[in-house]
Amino acid sequence: MPASRGKFITFEGIDGAGKSTHVATVVDLLRARGLDVVSTREPGGTPLGEKLREWLLREAMHPETEALLMFAARREHLAQIIEPALARGAWVVCDRFSDATYAYQGGGRGLDKAKCLSLEDWVHGRLQPDLTFLFDLPPALACARIAKEGRELDKFEQERADFHARVRQAYLERAASAPHRIRVVKAGRDIEDVKKIVEETLVTHCLSKN
Ligand code: TMP
Repeated sequence: MPASRGKFITFEGIDGAGKSTHVATVVDLLRARGLDVVSTREPGGTPLGEKLREWLLREAMHPETEALLMFAARREHLAQIIEPALARGAWVVCDRFSDATYAYQGGGRGLDKAKCLSLEDWVHGRLQPDLTFLFDLPPALACARIAKEGRELDKFEQERADFHARVRQAYLERAASAPHRIRVVKAGRDIEDVKKIVEETLVTHCLSKN
């Protein structure tokens, strides 16, 4: 008998919202329940995708080139990693997916939403995450968190505050249009409180039905 399809969980938010810490929490929680979990990220997740990531995070390019490369990396990621994992019954936990293209290229760079929509339709048709955590934080706070880390900033992190404000706004609009799968988590509170909310949401939304 074929395995039942695994679940697809994604993490989103402006740079500095703190999502990566919670990716690890969710992966540990699912593995502790004996589930087969694939933890991956975008752009990236495959050898080709990681090469594209290097360009995307460093090189200046036309907004449409940026969107096309994001979706090219995504197509490869779906074919090599995400679709086979879900088909064998594994759970896929992905740090960013197409909501990020709507937010960054659509909101941040002003790319026509209809173009994002047609690329999304082409690349992953009806496949959408089962659950998306959107970590929401005012850009000024996110920026202060990144500055504290004292590391070299990538191309997106170097953008001005108004870019990050537009990315945040586009994420919130996307969440409002898909409330059945996108959960907005206020990321400014204490990390232990955020962790608790993430765990409870995961259990109610995905694990209670297993
Ligand atoms: P991160 O792995 O630290 O989150 O960085 C990835 C960066 O790439 C982040 O600034 C958001 C950006 N990005 C886009 O602009 N569009 C996309 O579709 C994706 C997946 C990421």
